[in-house]
Amino acid sequence: MVVSSCASDTGEPTMEYVPPPDGPPAASSEFLAFVDGREYAAWTCELAPHPAREPSPHGMNRICQNSIATAARDGSGPWPVGAASVKEQYDGGGNVFAFEISLKERSGSGPEAWRFWRGQGTRVTNDAVGASFCSNCHEGADRDFVFTVVR
Ligand code: HEC
Repeated sequence: MVVSSCASDTGEPTMEYVPPPDGPPAASSEFLAFVDGREYAAWTCELAPHPAREPSPHGMNRICQNSIATAARDGSGPWPVGAASVKEQYDGGGNVFAFEISLKERSGSGPEAWRFWRGQGTRVTNDAVGASFCSNCHEGADRDFVFTVVR
């Protein structure tokens, strides 16, 4: 397999992400527990949930970004490895019913640099690196697969 922008010596993409103290964890198998613990609420977060912004399918949502993303929010070009966003999805009653995470796991500017994950209740509904339902749309964001910059 040939990977154009992020190949290691073996031609396989290597995991470059080393979690900062505020997370998220390196292993996506730990993401459900991570969002459940609500630690991301100490990240830089939107003050309140808002309706989906075009072309978002996410409905009412609130976005938080970790220390690596926040430190790079005024830059341009690809986000640094470790930049992560958590999105809470809200139901009509104002309760969070699902979480989404985008995490830049390796350097580069293609979809293979990103993990997109979604958890609802105790179920993981999406967990993919590279081209996926999620990244196909996020590819249209102004800056490297991230639509929202939280300030
Ligand atoms: C059809 C387009 C589209 C699809 C498909 C999509 N998203 Fe998004 N996403 C958006 C838009 C637009 C936003 C900006 C905020 C909003 O929802 O209002 C967003 C925001 C986000 C954010 C906050 C960071 C950012 O980029 O703004 C995360 C995390 C996220 N989406 C994860 C996912 C995951 C995981 C999936 C797949 C399960 C997914 N998205 C599928 C369009 C999309």
